Amino acid sequence: MLVEKNVPLQAFNTFHIVAKAHSLIRIRSEEDVRAVLADPDLAVSPKFVLGGGSNIVLTGDVKPVVLKVEIAGKRLLQGTPRHYIVEAGAGEGWHDLVAWTLEQGYPGLENMALIPGTVGAAPVQNIGAYGLELQDRFDSLDAIDLQTGQVFTLNAAQCAFGYRDSIFKHSSNAELLQALGLKDRVLILRVRFAIPKAWKPVLGYADLEKKMAEQHCDQPTARQIFDWICDIRRAKLPDPAVIGNAGSFFKNPTVTPEQCADIIARDPKVVHYLLADGSVKLAAGWLIDSCGWRGKTVGHAGVYEKQALVLVNRGTGNDGDGATGGEVMTLAKAIQTSVYERFGIQLEPEPVVI
Ligand code: EPU
Repeated sequence: MLVEKNVPLQAFNTFHIVAKAHSLIRIRSEEDVRAVLADPDLAVSPKFVLGGGSNIVLTGDVKPVVLKVEIAGKRLLQGTPRHYIVEAGAGEGWHDLVAWTLEQGYPGLENMALIPGTVGAAPVQNIGAYGLELQDRFDSLDAIDLQTGQVFTLNAAQCAFGYRDSIFKHSSNAELLQALGLKDRVLILRVRFAIPKAWKPVLGYADLEKKMAEQHCDQPTARQIFDWICDIRRAKLPDPAVIGNAGSFFKNPTVTPEQCADIIARDPKVVHYLLADGSVKLAAGWLIDSCGWRGKTVGHAGVYEKQALVLVNRGTGNDGDGATGGEVMTLAKAIQTSVYERFGIQLEPEPVVI
């Protein structure tokens, strides 16, 4: 087991924030985790599990031991009568998995093409885009307990998926029996997906409908949807390889119909969607945009010109010209304050702040 010291993390977080890991260990198998736990010092050290670094804001050097997940492998497990069960190692790139399933003839993940990050990070925030969430195609996952080394399997219900939420985002609270969170307690090893054998396109999302109309195509193939999603995302979201960012910075808030009516009375154009449970989801991007933040810059952090929900690093990180995590969080707080003052809504950040 190699413990790397003072490892620059700039290339390991999509915001390209400059920070170091005091210690970093690459995890390529279950045995690598066991080796960490067998070491008397490492066993008791706080640990931080790093996937693709696409949903984190680093506000300084990382003192906990960084376990960088690089577990590889993609395969078709025995299918069920109605589903292909595909298993992927937690270190595989998410987009590579989507492309691979399509090439292999197991379409069904295409609406989630081009989401940055790794397979192991995908269940943590229940990634989603264009009408599909990870939980819609999820079968189960294997994880290892970072205290006991015990490997266990969780199904969808046990992962407690919610909107950009799961059991892996919550700390356990011994006083609240129902709050059995797994945050910082486990490392996800591999994830299995249940992909329906009878493929049906997931359409209905405005951007996709627009593509269909433009191309005069009302029965797209999975490959067409994949290509369209890639085009749509490239057109409105910054490529992290070019401009540092962590995707949507805030969750879309939900409000009561009364709160929404109150906002509509003042701002009739507010973008909102009625949810099945009667509550109303508001487009956080629109709220931020209408407070005038789109394209603004504070220090080296900014609000993306084409999508106000995305905060970006205006610098390259070379020669100290990049954004610090502190600058990103200062900008985020300023945005939260102005949205709260104007709409009375508290925006909740999506990335994990470290
Ligand atoms: N809007 C504005 N101004 C802006 C940005 C958006 O007016 O600056 C309006 C748009 O015109 C649109 C509405 O807000 O009417 C919603 O925008 P969009 O369709 O781009 O989706 P979103 O709600 O901003 C969510 C996800 C994205 C996902 C897209 C597509 C969250 C927090 N974000 O964004 O996920 O790709 O839908 O499904 O739910 C991510 O989580 O990192 C992410 C990129």
